[in-house]
Amino acid sequence: MRITENFNGNWLFREGFEPTRVDTMQDGERVRLPHSAVELPYNYFDETDYQKPFTYQKVIDWREDFEGQEVSLVFDAAMADSVVYLNGREITAHKDGYTPFEARLTPYLRQGENLVTVKIDGSENPDIPPFGGQIDYLCYAGLYRDVWLKVASPVSIANVKIETPDALAEKKTVTARVFLANPQGLAVSGTLDAKIRRKGGGDVAATSVAIDGNEAVLTFTGLAGIELWDIDNPVLYALSLKLATDYGEDVLTQRFGFRTALFTPDGFLLNGRPLKLRGLNRHQSWPHTGYAMGRRAQEKDADILKYELACNIVRTSHYPQSKWFIERCDEIGLLCFEEIPGWQHIGGEAWQRESIANVRRMIERDWNHPSIIIWGVRINESQDSHDFYAETNRLARELDPTRQTGGVRFITNSEMLEDVYTMNDFILGQEEMPGNNRGRVVLRDRVETTGITKPIPYMITEYNGHMYPTKRFDQEQRQAEHVTRHLLILNAVAGDSDISGSTGWCMFDYNTHKDFGSGDRICYHGVLDMYRIPKLAAYAYASQGDPKDGVVMQPVTFWARGERNIGGVLPLIVLTNCDYVEVKFGEWPAKRVYPDRENYPHLPRPPVVLDLRTVTPQEFGTWGRVWREGTFTGFIDGKAVKTMVLPADPVPTTLEVTPDDTALRAGEKDAVRVVVRVLDQCGNLLPYFEEPVSLALSGPGRIIGPADHTLKGGATGFWVEAGEEMGRLELAVTSRRFAPQSVTFTVS
Ligand code: GAL
Repeated sequence: MRITENFNGNWLFREGFEPTRVDTMQDGERVRLPHSAVELPYNYFDETDYQKPFTYQKVIDWREDFEGQEVSLVFDAAMADSVVYLNGREITAHKDGYTPFEARLTPYLRQGENLVTVKIDGSENPDIPPFGGQIDYLCYAGLYRDVWLKVASPVSIANVKIETPDALAEKKTVTARVFLANPQGLAVSGTLDAKIRRKGGGDVAATSVAIDGNEAVLTFTGLAGIELWDIDNPVLYALSLKLATDYGEDVLTQRFGFRTALFTPDGFLLNGRPLKLRGLNRHQSWPHTGYAMGRRAQEKDADILKYELACNIVRTSHYPQSKWFIERCDEIGLLCFEEIPGWQHIGGEAWQRESIANVRRMIERDWNHPSIIIWGVRINESQDSHDFYAETNRLARELDPTRQTGGVRFITNSEMLEDVYTMNDFILGQEEMPGNNRGRVVLRDRVETTGITKPIPYMITEYNGHMYPTKRFDQEQRQAEHVTRHLLILNAVAGDSDISGSTGWCMFDYNTHKDFGSGDRICYHGVLDMYRIPKLAAYAYASQGDPKDGVVMQPVTFWARGERNIGGVLPLIVLTNCDYVEVKFGEWPAKRVYPDRENYPHLPRPPVVLDLRTVTPQEFGTWGRVWREGTFTGFIDGKAVKTMVLPADPVPTTLEVTPDDTALRAGEKDAVRVVVRVLDQCGNLLPYFEEPVSLALSGPGRIIGPADHTLKGGATGFWVEAGEEMGRLELAVTSRRFAPQSVTFTVS
């Protein structure tokens, strides 16, 4: 029977790599995975600090249950150019930094102690995608995902591809192609039993086949009473396999769902039903730890996209991301556009071979996820390259004929080798380019970008981003324009049936190379900041959600007489999914304002906009007049569902410390986010409060990053990470103006 054990604890880590000492345990720091080789400051750092080799070592003691079995280590990913040695001998190497690999220990494992040494190399080796050109993100070095110890029979189940060819039929079929691992090349015969269960429910069907060789196909037919996987009801099933051969037994369980997903020239269809895709791009990075965050933080990002930003799709720009993230997408019904690693640059022959291998690794890892609806098989924003992309497309279709291919470009008239033309349209904002005489264009027509006149499936994969970088602590007017640009594009996409949907650039701000960003190694392109704290543009997305999943009413203002040029708060956008909003200025009668269908006719939930159509500047008074309190009340079905009071004289009243959770798990590098905000007397964030706060943590854990923070835009964030032992963590947050705040976490 198979054993899969977490192998994350007790690694020794050191900078550098000495090829002559791979057989000797060296000094180092004791670390737990996921691990970042270098924890960078929040900003203003030198990214070459991690662009070098590092060594990880760990002893593995012989155990009785290894006898006669295949023993291996499964690395969910390592950045990058990994070489694994066992007792001084190289046993495997893997260049890519985003896909899993397995190091077979068996033939060289000996009784007693065995030494595993892993070299990784953060240098940007031009033979490995995405390296070789400039890249607008960081590829943080480290054993940054989980590692597993696997003990299995000499013949075991390597992988399974599950297909649901008639998912929309009343009685459904499942086929499962099972691939066996047989590293010793044994003659194989036996049986394979398979069972389908509903997740959290009972058995659905069972079957078995005789095995003869290293592959088998199972078919289930006539399955009745099956529920489809959908974004609002993501029903998952599990296929459990049990293999019995002369060499022992093995088991493997894989989740899957029944659904169809199709991009057509008339839009995207999920289970045959039109669905406008609305989402964002996501990098897998965090402040300080870079890529090295575990399950909870990965899952949280998916939850934020779905529940806080009301997105129905995410693009995993620009590489395969953590399985924890993608599994969460399956569980909560968040669609996913996954793509191979790369950024604009196409390298030489070795590089391209590696990239083609990445297509295989990505698809073979993720082909059973119902959330994934398209494979990105081009290097993001690269030039056309016929032979290379003919091959990535061919391979994707061979491995997975059930999903369409896409390939993200920004060039126009590019050769369409994919099934879906996926386009980064950065036209909005081009009007600011010197020499541009075209005026403001929100999105180009599909025929203009593609040069293809016949109808084709088409999706917008990026917009905004570097065209209008905006910080959470930028002035109100800039944030209002940031909001407007996101709304304009969402509206244009919603109004064009040719466009399947869009993923904006991007979910949150991210650290980047010196060639990009604001000079401090941050691209401020997110609708959230790096701590996942919302900018006002976040509510452009959130407000598109159904109010039954959460009422949204967010005025795009800091509510002050003199924050904007010339003064006042007009035009004032209120991002909301309410039917209408009543706005009251001081003692004046409330004014009812309806969603702005004139400017945003296609948005599911247009914002309410106070401008000269609904108020006169005199109503708010001009420069030199008294400023008054504002009261916003949102109504649904005639009932007041949300009220917000923006005081005329905001004062810092509350230091709010909000952990996402207070129950942590020991021995897992489990990290929970904490957000600190300074609020006024009515509970609103004070956007220019920028004093320091100090953090202190006692107990078995640590604060990731520094203990001293300066609030930016009235807020900051950090992650508390559990250590090896169980116990209690006490967090204290102190500041000059407020009483100390504390939070207790349990680590169990
Ligand atoms: C795109 C690119 C993204 C990011 C974005 C910024 O060109 O695909 O990775 O750099 O620009 O707007």
